[in-house]
Amino acid sequence: MTALTLSTAAAAGLRADAIVVGVAKGAQGPVVAPGAETVDEAYDGKLAATLETLGATGAEGEVTKLPAPSGFKAPVVVAVGLGAEPGEDEAYTAESLRRAAGNAARALAGAQKAVFALPLVEAADAAAVGEGALLGAYAFDAYKETAKNGNGKAPLAEVALLGGKPRDKEYKAAVERVVAVAEELNRARDLVNTPPNDLNPAAFAALAQTAGKEHGLTVQVLDEKALTKGGYGGILGVGAGSAAGPRLVKLAYQHPEADKHLAFVGKGITYDSGGISLKPAGHNETMKCDMAGAAAVFAAVVAAARLGLKVNVTGWLALAENMPSGSATRPGDVLRMYSGKTVEVLNTDAEGRLVLADALWAASEETPDAIVDVATLTGAMMVALGNHTFGIMANDDAFRTAIHEAAEESGEDAWPMPLPEHLRKGMDSPTADIANMGDRMGGGLVAGLFLKEFVGEGITWAHLDIAGPAFNEQAPFGYTPKGGTGSAVRTLVRLAELTAAGELG
Ligand code: BES
Ligand code: MN
Ligand code: ZN
Repeated sequence: MTALTLSTAAAAGLRADAIVVGVAKGAQGPVVAPGAETVDEAYDGKLAATLETLGATGAEGEVTKLPAPSGFKAPVVVAVGLGAEPGEDEAYTAESLRRAAGNAARALAGAQKAVFALPLVEAADAAAVGEGALLGAYAFDAYKETAKNGNGKAPLAEVALLGGKPRDKEYKAAVERVVAVAEELNRARDLVNTPPNDLNPAAFAALAQTAGKEHGLTVQVLDEKALTKGGYGGILGVGAGSAAGPRLVKLAYQHPEADKHLAFVGKGITYDSGGISLKPAGHNETMKCDMAGAAAVFAAVVAAARLGLKVNVTGWLALAENMPSGSATRPGDVLRMYSGKTVEVLNTDAEGRLVLADALWAASEETPDAIVDVATLTGAMMVALGNHTFGIMANDDAFRTAIHEAAEESGEDAWPMPLPEHLRKGMDSPTADIANMGDRMGGGLVAGLFLKEFVGEGITWAHLDIAGPAFNEQAPFGYTPKGGTGSAVRTLVRLAELTAAGELG
């Protein structure tokens, strides 16, 4: 991944491919943001005017390249829009810094090193710029010929944050944290982007085992035999149609002084064809993304371990491939779940809730202080909240609010959603304890209500439906690439941090 350093050197003397400066939308046109004073002086104080001539306004997403002033070792200055200039007593928000840094990093693909001279007032600003740069520089080119022959544009290799204080403890810690989180988040993106013929449940489990052990986690993998013996009817039922059998992976990070225990549960459908209730063409091309919840959980547990957080975190990856075949679960089949409840499968495309139900019950057996599940669960949530926002449902209003706040602090768009009890009766089944489908209206909430039935009595639980933001099919923006986005990773890490600090639960 891109290397991140703090630098106090003067911009002019730095050997780099580009100097990145910020430009904001002022009342009278573009203004150069703090951090780039010396660059502006080298242009005789005319940088803002020059940028205006070139059509720059300071709007978010804008990238303007111009030749560096004479005497600079770097050949190019890249001016990135920061949006509206903050008022007298206000500062640039963390998210505006992240996005600007991300836009700059993307515009600099193919370059080796860039110096970022963006406004840094405190360590948190360095973290925001660093995070935006590391996440924005991400590219997935493992399957491209150009990655091998060097003809493609490799991601920006090195970012130096100008004005960061390399000897300051707070700055150093902020950069270390952001590097760990961004590396794991980018790993989650890689997992989502990896084609489903290469990332089946066994492959995902093997990878989790290797990487988990590398970071001191205890990893347990239940294969088909173990799942059968244990009675995991939900995971087995979903995996029954695939030649690549299902897995349940448990990753445990333990801190010797922890007094809280969080469990994260991820939906890991490595490919969702819909099963016998086959998805029509046009709806399955991106369904390799259906393991994004498990990828986020995996990344967050590893990040918690790398950060040495004083909290125990257990990650559960419910892995299966949802395929139609002669051995597949049929609409009408009844599954006996790990919890003992029976489920009538009315639609094999509502498979995520089935694998999650077993994993939620397994997680509940350890009676953690809270469980958070993450899943690309319903198209209905995308209809409700769009492509950038995940829905938060919970059996505890305060916990739901805390997660919403954690998301906001991390730069993730999320919104609270209800779990209306009246939708439960739509899942009544004449044959089994519950059906895996209910009313079409409010489909995201129906799925949440289903999951709720598989959470152990008295355990605080929340469900994040990331179907919208997990996979970006549109153009990249800010620090969000096309494809896998790493949705929910930062929120989960923040939750673990808050729990470790005793500020949650
Ligand atoms: N994985 C899908 C949900 C999804 C759709 C995620 C689009 C990302 C993008 C899920 O398994 C699914 O198929 N859900 C069904 C449920 C329905 C059959 C009750 C849906 O939302 O249509
Ligand atoms: Mn499905
Ligand atoms: Zn699915």
